[in-house]
Amino acid sequence: EKQDITSIIVFGASGDLAKKKTFPALFQLYKSNLLPKHTRIHGYARTDMSREEFEKRVTSNIKGTPALIEAFLSHCNYTHGSYSQGEDFERLKAVITEGEKDMQTEPVEFADENDKAGRLIGNRLRVYYMALPPSAFTMVASNIKAHVYEPDVINHIVIEKPFGFDRDTSKELNMELSRHFKESEIFRTDHYLGKEMVKNIIVLRFANTFYSASWNNKYISNIQITFREPFGTEGRGGYFDSFGIIRDVMQNHLIQVLSILAMEPPKSLDAEDIRDCKAEVLRYIPPVKLEETLLGQYVASEDGTKPGYKDDPTVPKDSNTPTFAALVLHINNDRWRGVPFIMKAGKAVESAKVIVRVQFKDASSKLFPDVSRDELIIRISPTESIYTKNVVKLPGLGNKLAMSALELNYPNVFQDRMIPEPYAALLLDVIGNDHSNFVREDELDEAWRIFTPLLHQIDQGKATLLPYPYGSRGPAGSNEFPTKFGNYKATTLDYYYNDSI
Ligand code: BG6
Repeated sequence: EKQDITSIIVFGASGDLAKKKTFPALFQLYKSNLLPKHTRIHGYARTDMSREEFEKRVTSNIKGTPALIEAFLSHCNYTHGSYSQGEDFERLKAVITEGEKDMQTEPVEFADENDKAGRLIGNRLRVYYMALPPSAFTMVASNIKAHVYEPDVINHIVIEKPFGFDRDTSKELNMELSRHFKESEIFRTDHYLGKEMVKNIIVLRFANTFYSASWNNKYISNIQITFREPFGTEGRGGYFDSFGIIRDVMQNHLIQVLSILAMEPPKSLDAEDIRDCKAEVLRYIPPVKLEETLLGQYVASEDGTKPGYKDDPTVPKDSNTPTFAALVLHINNDRWRGVPFIMKAGKAVESAKVIVRVQFKDASSKLFPDVSRDELIIRISPTESIYTKNVVKLPGLGNKLAMSALELNYPNVFQDRMIPEPYAALLLDVIGNDHSNFVREDELDEAWRIFTPLLHQIDQGKATLLPYPYGSRGPAGSNEFPTKFGNYKATTLDYYYNDSI
């Protein structure tokens, strides 16, 4: 349904998330002509700043011609106020309403002359974007409800992780939120769901016979989802130390990827059909076992140039927070019984890479008894790519075989296409009321159910963290982990063209 008057309210407008992600995403949409024509962007935060300072923040991470930036800024304004006082929210409401009135007097364009009669003033949509620390979520949500919310407006509230700290605290947060907003008004952001290659998984799986036919335990041996980041917590130690790598990326980003990889075919592409299937597959996964987990914490690099995790002044000296984890998930349904899903995530390791590796079973042909296994690799970042490893005849007069790759490297193949920023893609979905790429309450609860017992054991100091040097591949045992727990057999490419593989 077309929205005619849109107000986007960015709470936490003076903060980092707003500066680095929210405003740049809004600008990208504006630049691509995708923001609704009549839109106002209202920044709100506690800091008292001048218009000039606000503009500096909004524009600090965006690129465009001065004229375009100027035009974008003409849609933005800033209000400062507390997160706790009703009267501050009343003031905000007055600003929003003022903006809505202004937009009503702007000329409305009609696609069809017949539209004019009934539709002079269209729907009003208000997007409340919480670029805020979680401690403020419920207070702000309740103040919006009490002082800003109007039932005849379409209200969308956007929040981002951390959604709680474990299963119970997440439940509490959801309960609080649901006192003020309906589930259909809530958009829980997981920016991985806005990534091009994550969105591509459903297409790859269900639009290709080749993959849909082989996507089960008859043909697949194991699946790995790996997240590697070459930098440590650098300044974010305070936040990170109370969360750790499992809460930071596994319980959310990687489990979301897993649920799309493993779900049954949804009835349709409607948001609720997709989310039903994602939640359903998670129900078959028992909690992760500590015995099937390898945990680590980085120490200074071998040459001493990079600091260890505990050298970060914001990290307590006795911290028991993992910065690396490898673990196994089992999906006890007919499709996946016996196929280990290995998740690995590490900060301050040797490379930057997020990939899904689907390893097929040994070829069961007597003709070629000892060949390597086929693999399908989906590289989410950097450089979006899909490639398969296959056994082929080595060209020449002999009968030798070689392992080579078929690659679809996005920047090479889709040269005329732009890959959108996840936050821009997701914001567009919020405006268009499409929930497919947002996390529903039951999915979130299942994800916490799977990780909470392990997290509690770690929090209680029951887990051993192995040290690994900054810039290494991870703690001792991490290379062997997928073989030990996941039936994985290493394969090597003998020949390939693009060395980005
Ligand atoms: C965030 C985590 O959610 O995701 C960060 O808090 C992590 O620690 C980031 O670095 C990774 O996102 P991306 O898009 O860079 O892969």
